[in-house]
Amino acid sequence: MLLSMDNVSTGYGKAQVLKNININIEKGEIVALIGANGAGKTTTLRCINGVIRPWEGCIRLNNKEINSLQPFELVSLGISYCPEGREIFGNLTVFENLKVGGYLVKKRDKLNSNFDWIYSLFPILKDRRNQIAGSLSGGEQQMLAISRALMSNPMLLFLDEPSLGLAPVVVENIFATIQQINSEGTSILLVEQNVILALDIANRAYVLEKGEIRLCGECKELSRSEYVKNSYLGII
Ligand SMILES: Nc1ncnc2c1ncn2[C@@H]1O[C@H](COP(=O)(O)OP(=O)(O)OP(=O)(O)O)[C@@H](O)[C@H]1O
Ligand SMILES: [Mg+2]
Repeated sequence: MLLSMDNVSTGYGKAQVLKNININIEKGEIVALIGANGAGKTTTLRCINGVIRPWEGCIRLNNKEINSLQPFELVSLGISYCPEGREIFGNLTVFENLKVGGYLVKKRDKLNSNFDWIYSLFPILKDRRNQIAGSLSGGEQQMLAISRALMSNPMLLFLDEPSLGLAPVVVENIFATIQQINSEGTSILLVEQNVILALDIANRAYVLEKGEIRLCGECKELSRSEYVKNSYLGII
């Protein structure tokens, strides 16, 4: 097991958001986390990434507890987080944004090969490497946000709503690249409101409702479930 959340509960201040969450990710998988607005998807990612702490329960990476680690410590252990809303540095160039993502990579050769890898995944970023990131299109900014998270060579990548606000053709391109990143060895936890897309590229999925896991299973099975069809796929 690469990552496990066992009976994790957490929230903000005194307000509980997540209740007894159990999620597992095996090496090599794409796991989707789906659910309505406010279900607690981003909170789940923040909790694994050390932005907020579990109140109860245990988070393990390769069977070692990581409950109390800081976000930068998790990056050095191979977890990388591409947040909702991208949060790129708008006044830095594309190149500078990527350099920030690779700040833990000390060897120049490795850093250079990471840049080559990113530019092969998203060639448009190479063309625009000296452009101020704030002036990129929405799709290019999302590509940059994913790429910045990849600069640390994560074994586990968290993506929070990579399709948000993007045109279908751009989403198609980004999702094809997410599959390529996975096929090259990075395991992925994907938060998506586009359920059709998420179930299409993931191996397994968890359905989060009001802070609790309502359903989980293989995507093929979930897409056939009446409940998922009615509630998330708009099929009656
Ligand atoms: N910083 C915060 N302080 C207090 N409450 C918060 C905070 N962030 C989120 N919440 C609350 O936690 C609940 C879950 O929010 P979360 O952002 O995890 O949902 P989500 O599933 O990611 O939703 P969306 O699809 O809209 O991104 C919501 O009720 C939200 O209001
Ligand atoms: Mg969210």
